Amino acid sequence: MAGRLQDRIALVIGAGSIGPGLGNGKASAILYAREGAKVFAVDINPDAVEETRKLIADEGNICTTHAGDATVADSVRAMVDACMAAYGRIDILHNNLGITEIGGPVDLPEERWDRLMDVNVKSMFLSCKYVLPVMAAQGAGVVTNISSISAERYAGFPSVVYNTAKGAVKQFTQNVAMEYARKGIRANCVQPGLIDTPLVHTFKDAYPGDWDAVVRHRHAMVPMGRMGTGWDVAKAAVFLASDDAAYITGVSLPVDGGLSGIFTTPAEMPDS
Ligand SMILES: NC(=O)c1ccc[n+]([C@@H]2O[C@H](COP(=O)([O-])OP(=O)(O)OC[C@H]3O[C@@H](n4cnc5c(N)ncnc54)[C@H](O)[C@@H]3O)[C@@H](O)[C@H]2O)c1
Repeated sequence: MAGRLQDRIALVIGAGSIGPGLGNGKASAILYAREGAKVFAVDINPDAVEETRKLIADEGNICTTHAGDATVADSVRAMVDACMAAYGRIDILHNNLGITEIGGPVDLPEERWDRLMDVNVKSMFLSCKYVLPVMAAQGAGVVTNISSISAERYAGFPSVVYNTAKGAVKQFTQNVAMEYARKGIRANCVQPGLIDTPLVHTFKDAYPGDWDAVVRHRHAMVPMGRMGTGWDVAKAAVFLASDDAAYITGVSLPVDGGLSGIFTTPAEMPDS
């Protein structure tokens, strides 16, 4: 049976995982492929993206890899050219990149502000710069950018550059959506909430206290009682890329187990 994305070409930027296990980008690449897309998987880390390719190939699906830095214009142009050389079109651009930084304006070193803005925002500007003309020539395409519910609200601790960047991703996406709405191109954000990915566990070694308690707390904070997984984010991305979302553009879709709907913790909520 044909998948929901049968024979479409999906360029996934940041398709590896930062550590062992399944991140949002890796899960999305795998799910696009399960739905019939041919995946062009890009990552700065060749080993990480090779792992994604192998998982896709082991399921009998198609993936080509490319190593490149999504914050550097020449590198992004080269990845788009390589995708076109491999497949001749780009139907889905999935911008997964995102790093985190904790701290407010006084604590945060300037170079770390610049680095995060480059990785989380400039990478999307560059990929759109080179992919949108391809999609416009095709008269069709979908851009899906990974934002965060941090685009909307304070996380409970200072994280000024991350929240600023995710807010920028939302506005960037909406601008692209409006400019290209009559050219057959849709652009949307996914806003993950608390997702249990390798990225989160990179903080374990630096955390001085009981890391398992932090993980339990993250689960407990979510109204549905659990953190999400990479699959939850990937399923939303597949929906937005599919024809089921043909009339949806310019939106930011929370995938957060209800987290953005509350401002108390579930423990503080009444029982009934
Ligand atoms: N895990 C959460 O709780 C959570 C919550 C909200 C939003 N998000 C968002 O999800 C996205 C990340 O998800 P993930 O789990 O796939 O993360 P990840 O860090 O596991 O994977 C990101 C991949 O991008 C690659 N990468 C980093 N810099 C690059 C560059 N300059 N060029 C090319 N590739 C580069 C990394 O090597 C890595 O393989 C981010 O946008 C993040 O902000 C995550």
